[in-house]
Amino acid sequence: MTDQAASISKLEPAVSQLRCIGCGAVGEDGAKSVRCAQCGDLLEVVYPDWKASRRAGGLDAAGLKGLWKQRRTSYKALDESGVWRFREVLPALHDWNRVITLREGNTPVYELPSCGRAAGVQQLYAKHQGMNPTGSFKDTGMTVAASFARQGGFRWVACASTGNTSASMAAYAARAGMRSLVLIPQGQITWGKLSQALDYGAVTCQLKTDFDGCMRVLDEVVQRMPVYLLNSVNPYRLEGQKTAAVELLERFDWQSPDHVIVPGGNLGNSSALGKAFLEMKELGLISRLPKLSVIQAEGANALVRTMRETGGKELVSVQAETMATAIRIGSPASWKKAVRVLEATGGAVEQVSEVEIALAKAEIGADGIGCEPASAVTLAGLKKLVTQGFVKKNESVVLILTGNLLKDPDFTLKFHRGDLFAGTPHEEEAESLLTHRQRAPMVLDASANAVVKVLEHAERTDPAG
Ligand code: F0G
Repeated sequence: MTDQAASISKLEPAVSQLRCIGCGAVGEDGAKSVRCAQCGDLLEVVYPDWKASRRAGGLDAAGLKGLWKQRRTSYKALDESGVWRFREVLPALHDWNRVITLREGNTPVYELPSCGRAAGVQQLYAKHQGMNPTGSFKDTGMTVAASFARQGGFRWVACASTGNTSASMAAYAARAGMRSLVLIPQGQITWGKLSQALDYGAVTCQLKTDFDGCMRVLDEVVQRMPVYLLNSVNPYRLEGQKTAAVELLERFDWQSPDHVIVPGGNLGNSSALGKAFLEMKELGLISRLPKLSVIQAEGANALVRTMRETGGKELVSVQAETMATAIRIGSPASWKKAVRVLEATGGAVEQVSEVEIALAKAEIGADGIGCEPASAVTLAGLKKLVTQGFVKKNESVVLILTGNLLKDPDFTLKFHRGDLFAGTPHEEEAESLLTHRQRAPMVLDASANAVVKVLEHAERTDPAG
């Protein structure tokens, strides 16, 4: 037996079940369908023993904290993964040696001093999930769901995507020796993301529809063909994505921040993070929940409208339109789970304009961090929540940055060249709010004189940079 196998065999697996969020029907863990066989609603992974025992994997809160910390010094694949390091709170695989990992997770938490000043809060941090292997938070969920797909014997996995899920799925499928099928809305995902799917060998179909249309087509394809669906309706994806919240709490020495702010698209991620906070409280690792707030683009604001118009009872779908292509989603699949998390943690839901997103993205960049546009809705939303008094000046706030800056270089280039809003109704507003942040690249003669002149001009006109 290898060292890894020996240490793994000592592990007491979490006893989990799949439960329907609608009718409550319970099935065995490891099921192959991602929807309830009785009513068609979404499933979630539950751990029935935890409530009574307040233990996971046989350990109490102190035991879990100690074990997870200790694993940070290990070079075993399972421990090096920032997801599987927390395997006591994940569904157990039959064979832990068959996990598919790219050493995801372990993402940094950065202070954002100048963004904090812009938003009017004293303690502002970013947990940067764009620092994952394929450049987005999707990897933390994909390692779990792809491992379950392989365990289930699937040859094909598939997703509909605004780009990041497809990049991540294609990579993990390739590592597992599985084939992958990607459905993306034609012309609506960034080149960076599309090129990743191609590089990792996915069969990539650009459909003449939007994300919601791709999702509908895929739902039918998975009924007809033996492919495993790896969108965030897959409950195992959310289990992996939970670990970002666990990692965050560990980073804060198990003292919850006051607020966590996350972008909302299909609403899998907000559901996953909220589930983690609730579970960590149930297991006694934290004593207080952070408020989890969800921010959407004004043009893709289904959750905002759902909360405002129906109090979270009925989904209000929208025809989505936003330059933050990752969250251009009109009919979010996990809306019920997200509503539950908002209610349980006391979080808010807010929407932000295209110009506000662009400004926030430049502000995050100016703190030396960078992210893709969808991630920047968090800072834009925070500013609104501070203005409304929902977030207080002295409270601690963590923004979840979901994607890497290099996912969408086109947006950044257009922003700095001043082209982003050209010919749109936002042109004037953009000019007054964004110009001071624009740093267009210059073309110069190849002479030191020319460069020195630019340097002197920059120092004179813009000493703060
Ligand atoms: N941020 C980024 C960078 C994303 O790619 C997504 C979703 C979200 C936020 C929203 O997360 O859907 O869990 O609410 N991207 C999906 C995709 C839909 O296909 O890549 P969510």
